[in-house]
Amino acid sequence: MSPEKPSILVTGGAGYIGSHTVLALQQAGYEVVILDNLVYGHRELVEQVLKVELVVGDTGDRPLLDDLFKTRNFAAVMHFSAYAYVGESVTDPAKYYRNNVVGTLTLLEAMLAASINKFVFSSTCATYGVPEVIPIPENHPQDPINPYGATKLMVERILADFDVAYNFKSVRFRYFNAAGANPDGLLGEDHNPETHLIPLILLTALGKRESISIFGTDYPTSDGTCIRDYIHVNDLADAHVLGLEYLLKGGDSEIFNLGNGSGFSVREVIAAAESVTGVSIPIQECDRRPGDPPVLIGSSEKARNILGWRSQYPSIQDIVSHAWQWHQKRHK
Ligand SMILES: NC(=O)c1ccc[n+]([C@@H]2O[C@H](COP(=O)([O-])OP(=O)(O)OC[C@H]3O[C@@H](n4cnc5c(N)ncnc54)[C@H](O)[C@@H]3O)[C@@H](O)[C@H]2O)c1
Repeated sequence: MSPEKPSILVTGGAGYIGSHTVLALQQAGYEVVILDNLVYGHRELVEQVLKVELVVGDTGDRPLLDDLFKTRNFAAVMHFSAYAYVGESVTDPAKYYRNNVVGTLTLLEAMLAASINKFVFSSTCATYGVPEVIPIPENHPQDPINPYGATKLMVERILADFDVAYNFKSVRFRYFNAAGANPDGLLGEDHNPETHLIPLILLTALGKRESISIFGTDYPTSDGTCIRDYIHVNDLADAHVLGLEYLLKGGDSEIFNLGNGSGFSVREVIAAAESVTGVSIPIQECDRRPGDPPVLIGSSEKARNILGWRSQYPSIQDIVSHAWQWHQKRHK
């Protein structure tokens, strides 16, 4: 490891995307400290695989943050921690505004007090709401249709205002559907409860669930099911390292979509999973869910042009097979 590389605080580093990014940061030679309250994170992944320092605590805990920033010398913060269950955000919005907005604001104020002004933020395509054009560019209007998306948009707005007022520089990444797992089988997706399509399909293939529900088969798409843009979690992690380096080199605040620019329908993802696993996966056709746009595909031209980011694993086959490798190991 190169001793010159600075130290980075990663909030939510014990979670899915955060843990993959911590690994990418380590491989790029950075020293990493994770701050995670372990509400959804996995201590054993940090201790056994990542082997970095884990501070168990909350981004809303200002004294803890002040202490952390006083005793370490972080060049930047990567902020993955948030609650991200769209349905729960509708039934319990207070929980989401408190954690995702107030918790983030507390972190940002502690950073200001410690004179740390570089921040990489996990935003989401959910800030766009129902798209007017496909693929969605970064300058598309933002009109989220659920509290989760609204919390992320609020933080984006806070970051824009902090830049003007305090010269606080951020890269805001709007992810499309994060999926897949580390190709070496070290890390993977382990949400509890799980709501994401690919792990749900694979849990069905493993016999842990009876069937996979398809919500809506009458959308105006080629096979009637919703189309989404799946991005391999390692590609997301690589983009974060590039985004961090862009800021460390003095780059101005920027917003980037992160997707593959192509979409797959629910039925196409199930077919890919059947081909990868060799298992015929039982499906259940259900009514549409309110608020599911028929098609969500992002343009990542800007990340390619400015950061030089390239997707290494654009194929849905690779995404599903890496996830399958992880799920088989995880549920042995
Ligand atoms: N998974 C996706 O497809 C997707 C898409 C768009 C955006 N995002 C965003 O990316 C980020 C990471 O998502 P993920 O899928 O890895 O989620 P995850 O739940 O696996 O990871 C989030 C981590 O943050 C921790 N955490 C939550 N609140 C905290 C707090 N107040 N203080 C400290 N730790 C806290 C949790 O314990 C967990 O380990 C989230 O901000 C999410 O909104 C995810």
